[in-house]
Amino acid sequence: MSRTPIMAGNWKMNLDHLAAVQLVQDLGSALADKDYDKASSEAVVIPPFTDIRSVQVLVEGDKLPLAWGAQDISANEDGAYTGEVSGSMLAKLGCSYVVVGHSERREYHAESDELVNAKAKKAIEHGMTPIICCGEALEVRKAGKHVEHTVGQIKADLAGIDAADVAKLVIAYEPIWAIGTGETATADDAQEVCGAIRKAVEELYDAPTAEAVRIQYGGSVKAGNVVEIMSKPDIDGALVGGASLKAGDFAEILTFYK
Ligand code: G3H
Repeated sequence: MSRTPIMAGNWKMNLDHLAAVQLVQDLGSALADKDYDKASSEAVVIPPFTDIRSVQVLVEGDKLPLAWGAQDISANEDGAYTGEVSGSMLAKLGCSYVVVGHSERREYHAESDELVNAKAKKAIEHGMTPIICCGEALEVRKAGKHVEHTVGQIKADLAGIDAADVAKLVIAYEPIWAIGTGETATADDAQEVCGAIRKAVEELYDAPTAEAVRIQYGGSVKAGNVVEIMSKPDIDGALVGGASLKAGDFAEILTFYK
C-alpha cells in the first residue's frame, strides 16, 4: 500500500498564539530527538485561526517537518460574513489542510452535510486538502446503524467532488462517543467503519480512487493505542485532539511506526 500515514493534531479551542509557538518549538525538538521520518508519517498541526500565522512563521520553508491547517473554512468566497474566515485567507497563511464537518461543528453549529460538502469544495478550490469528518453518536451505534449512518454522511459530503480530488483528500472517522472521553473504539470497530468508507468510495468512484484516499480514525487516540489502530488495513492515520496538545505525546504518536 502506498498511502503515507497522516497524523493531524486538532488543537480545537486551546492554546493562544504564544502557547502555540511553545508547543510547535517543543514538538520540533521532540521529533528531532526521536529521529522522526516524515516519509513514514505525515505530521499536521491544526491550531485555532488566531495561531496560524505564528505557526506558519516557525515552520515555513521546511524549518520544521510539519504541515499546518485550519479547523474550519467559510463556504463563501468573501464579503459580508461576520466571523467567517475565507479559503483565500487560509491559503495565504500556507494552510495545506482544512478540517470540515467535525462533529463539534455539526452539533454546536448545526452544520449539515450540504454545508460540509460546500466547505470541502471551497478548500479544494483554494488548493487545500479537506479532512472530512464523519461518525456516529452512541445511540446510532447502539442501534447497529453506525456503518450505514457514517457511509451516508460521506456520500453526501463528497457529492459533486471529482475522483481526482477525492483521491487526494482525507476522511476522518470519529465516533462521537469516543471523542475526548477516553473511550476508544476498538481497532476492529474502527476498521469496520473505515473499511466500509473505502468500499463506499470505490462504489461511488473506482478502485484506484478508493485505494488512494486516506482514512483516519479519531477518538481518544494516544501513544498507548496508536500502534494497534494503525495496524488495521484501512486506517491511514489519526485525527488527534487532547494528545496533540503535549509535544511529547504527539511526537510519540507521530513515530508510531518505530
Ligand atoms: O479532532 C479530534 C477528535 O475530535 C478527537 O479528539 O483525541 O481528544 O478524543 P480526542
